[in-house]
Amino acid sequence: MTDCQGDVEGASTPMELYEKLSEQGVKVRSLKSAKADKTEVDTAVQLLLKLKMDYKQMTGHDYKAGCPPSENDAAPNNGPAADVAGEDDTVDPWTVSTTNAKGVDYDKLIVRFGSSKIDQELVDRIEKVCGQKPHRFLRRGVFFSHRDMHQVLDAYEKHKSFYLYTGRGPSSEAMHVGHLIPFIFTKWLQDVFDIPLVIQLTDDEKYLWKDLTVEECHRFAIENAKDIIACGFDINKTFIFSDLDYMGSSPEFYRNVVKIQKHVTFNQVKGIFGFTDSDCIGKISFPAIQAAPSFSNSFPHVFGSRKDIQCLIPCAIDQDPYFRMTRDVAPRIGYPKPALLHSTFFPALQGAQTKMSASDANSSIFLTDTPKQIKNKINKHAFSGGKDTVEEHRKYGGNADVDVSFMYLTFFLEDDEQLEKIRQDYTSGALLTGELKKILIETLQPMIAQHQERRKQVTDDLVKQFMTPRPLNFNL
Ligand code: TYM
Repeated sequence: MTDCQGDVEGASTPMELYEKLSEQGVKVRSLKSAKADKTEVDTAVQLLLKLKMDYKQMTGHDYKAGCPPSENDAAPNNGPAADVAGEDDTVDPWTVSTTNAKGVDYDKLIVRFGSSKIDQELVDRIEKVCGQKPHRFLRRGVFFSHRDMHQVLDAYEKHKSFYLYTGRGPSSEAMHVGHLIPFIFTKWLQDVFDIPLVIQLTDDEKYLWKDLTVEECHRFAIENAKDIIACGFDINKTFIFSDLDYMGSSPEFYRNVVKIQKHVTFNQVKGIFGFTDSDCIGKISFPAIQAAPSFSNSFPHVFGSRKDIQCLIPCAIDQDPYFRMTRDVAPRIGYPKPALLHSTFFPALQGAQTKMSASDANSSIFLTDTPKQIKNKINKHAFSGGKDTVEEHRKYGGNADVDVSFMYLTFFLEDDEQLEKIRQDYTSGALLTGELKKILIETLQPMIAQHQERRKQVTDDLVKQFMTPRPLNFNL
């Protein structure tokens, strides 16, 4: 292998590969025009061809000189929808897994996805612009990555407002605690920036992907809407919609879906989501439906015909492939690119190698769990970073970096000083695993009981009001 081929293996992003291709193209041309030795020219041409093949495999389309890859191409090259972050990290809308007990390597994921880190400077700026203490998810790096958040803040400072968009795929009646993360944060954003919010319930997506009937998916959408409303969203500023209902009732929404569909090829969605020839066509065209709410004129009852209102999407980073595609399409159909705020994953009880997932009941704490179930699940399943015996734990201390109970507290314990003291005591061995679990149980039990109490107050009529297309408080 030549030195240059060694470099090829090192090109980990479409942009790096594109740049190597451009350089190699120049090299081939100059060798030819200098009438260089035939073997030298042949070797350079062969390398150029190999680079072209690698590029096509990585991006799903051919290299064209002068056309650098789009964000959309920051997609995987290793088969079905798998984005390799660290050596073994897989992050996509369907799978999150890593072999590292500390969880996904999020810094590497930022590089891989081509997003930007939410650094202290951005956190300070958000604080300055909204005039509120940053949410604990920002203070602690739970929301760790963004796209174009500075642009949103620049515009907001010039009195140009924006709107929020987030969503849920209603695959079952009960949501788990991990699903709350983007909704808790979205509510905070809605409150501090005083802006409208649209929430998409992709009952169509769940019908296409799961072994469920259309009726079941629609019913789960309504049930999930109750949990979402229980998070405390302002009815005057929030529109929640089921795709199965709204798609058929809003010509403007459907027009945007069709525009997006026209501008994304099968090759591109194969590259981004890993679809294969045997996937149903519903799946292949679904990403356009998740993209459409990113454009303000999909909601004429809220924004009239305005198509220029900036959208900000808070979600966990598994949803980013949808929005890389959306951001790639946006300028081509005359719309602004949506901005994004990405969160890390709330881990499974068994450890940070996977995210909490509704499909594994023992990995999750559900919003319907009783205080007893919460206690038993944590005591029985929460992976511990403690030592095997009390003596060893007192002597060597526990490892908070891999301890699931401690990780959960970083999401839900509000008091920074208390959290830091728990970390120090656990690490020094002063705090035992059982004691740490007790603190977590006593944090989660009232939090979930209060959620259940608020959910009980959500009547069918209230759900209907939230889900009726109507004007929201927003000054155009
Ligand atoms: P869904 O239902 O899988 O997840 C809903 C939201 O919860 C996030 N999430 C998590 N966050 C932290 N820790 C976890 N363990 C965890 N599991 C899920 C997801 O990232 C998501 O933000 N296709 C989407 C629905 C959707 C959507 C959107 C989501 C439609 N439009 C716009 C976000 C933004 C889905 O099935 O999400």
